[in-house]
Amino acid sequence: MSLKPVTVPALRNRKGKQPIVALTAYDHPTAVEIGDLVDLILVGDSLGMVVHGLPDTQQVTLEMMILHGQAVMRARPNALVVVDMPFGTVEESPAVAFRHAARVMRETGCSAIKLEGGTEMAETVRFLTQRGIPVLGHVGLMPQKAAMMGGFRTQGRNTAIAEKIRADAQAVAEAGGFALVIEGTIEPLAREITEAVAVPTIGIGASPACDGQILVVNDLLGRQSNYAPKFVRQYTRVGDSTREAVAAYADDVRARSFPGPEHCFN
Ligand code: KIV
Repeated sequence: MSLKPVTVPALRNRKGKQPIVALTAYDHPTAVEIGDLVDLILVGDSLGMVVHGLPDTQQVTLEMMILHGQAVMRARPNALVVVDMPFGTVEESPAVAFRHAARVMRETGCSAIKLEGGTEMAETVRFLTQRGIPVLGHVGLMPQKAAMMGGFRTQGRNTAIAEKIRADAQAVAEAGGFALVIEGTIEPLAREITEAVAVPTIGIGASPACDGQILVVNDLLGRQSNYAPKFVRQYTRVGDSTREAVAAYADDVRARSFPGPEHCFN
């Protein structure tokens, strides 16, 4: 539990220490509920699928990320809030990435941004961090590049790809990333990367040996009752309780069994 605001240097210092607890959040009520229970909140571009029902993250815009980032930040969570840079906003050049990342930080008040990519993004990570924008890296399975990677598949089975992921992690860490998300890799790859890099690793479908774990909040809470990735432990089934509550409400309304106006206002 974080009783005071988590800063970027404090999170960076968690390497090899108490595991980092990270979750996504996309809205104000969720951020209020979890803001002092986790170390890091990611306003992930997974919101495209999870909140907006899009087929993938590629249609997510900067404006969507800013709107959700603002809603989360209004909860004033103690957790470090990181906003994801959506597809197409950081790849063109370090200067374009800086302009978009600075806009996200300025308009949301978040503490850092996350971007997907390895060696090819190292120059951009250096450019941003040297100019005051803390960067959380993201290597391994990169959902924005899922089409290039053959879909949402576990990465690293092939030796050349495992070697590339190791190089990606090292490049982003050396370029100044304060921590790294490692997504969807086979054991022992994330374990080896965790030992090799100087910054904390935060796994998702990667390895318990990482310096922390991040999950999509809806998966952990069972909000979409018919879906959860295999690596997710569901602690509750909010989707089912919502349906039960709404079914009971519908029964009450149909039976005209609900409080009248005398119970509504003072
Ligand atoms: O967008 C997202 O939610 C993410 C996490 C899965 C790490 O990138």
